Amino acid sequence: MVVTAEQIRARIAELGAEITEDYRGRTPLLVGVLKGAFMFMSDIARAVALPVEFDFMAVSSYGSATKTSGVVRIVKDLDMDLSDRDVIIVEDIVDSGLTLQYLRRNLLARHPASIAVCAMLLREGLQKHDPDLRYVGFSIPPDFVVGYGLDVGERYRNLPYICVYKGAAH
Ligand code: IMP
Ligand code: MG
Repeated sequence: MVVTAEQIRARIAELGAEITEDYRGRTPLLVGVLKGAFMFMSDIARAVALPVEFDFMAVSSYGSATKTSGVVRIVKDLDMDLSDRDVIIVEDIVDSGLTLQYLRRNLLARHPASIAVCAMLLREGLQKHDPDLRYVGFSIPPDFVVGYGLDVGERYRNLPYICVYKGAAH
């Protein structure tokens, strides 16, 4: 399975237009989840025709290289105050949904005006709870993927497309 650079570009233009429509008159705060979402964040931001602000969070989930345990640690917290902000969490991929569930709860406790999630990829059928994603780039089958920000052991993040990683035991 491959998502080409051209498919990514076209889908991001659509998502950007939707976000522009949905947040007209407001200044959303984009919260990028490092490291995987860095490339998606930069492209989606340029597709939104509104004033936006940025912040980043880094989380690490305990587990093997290719599986999440659901135990999440904040490695770098946000710099900005979320109170009364319209927050859009920008995620690379929602797999079990556990990372996102943790993040959403954590950010909701900071009293934003709203929280929505924009995920580049949704792995179909693996979520234990409804992950409630407002914007999804692509739904993908269960294979482990790399590229466009996604890594295995910090490699392949710079591929301009997304493809299945064949070398992983998972
Ligand atoms: P979740 O908590 O199971 O939803 O896992 C989400 C996190 O695991 C993502 O933010 C990624 O960092 C990582 N991840 C899950 N699937 C993949 C994949 O196929 N390739 C690269 N990283 C992945
Ligand atoms: Mg991630």
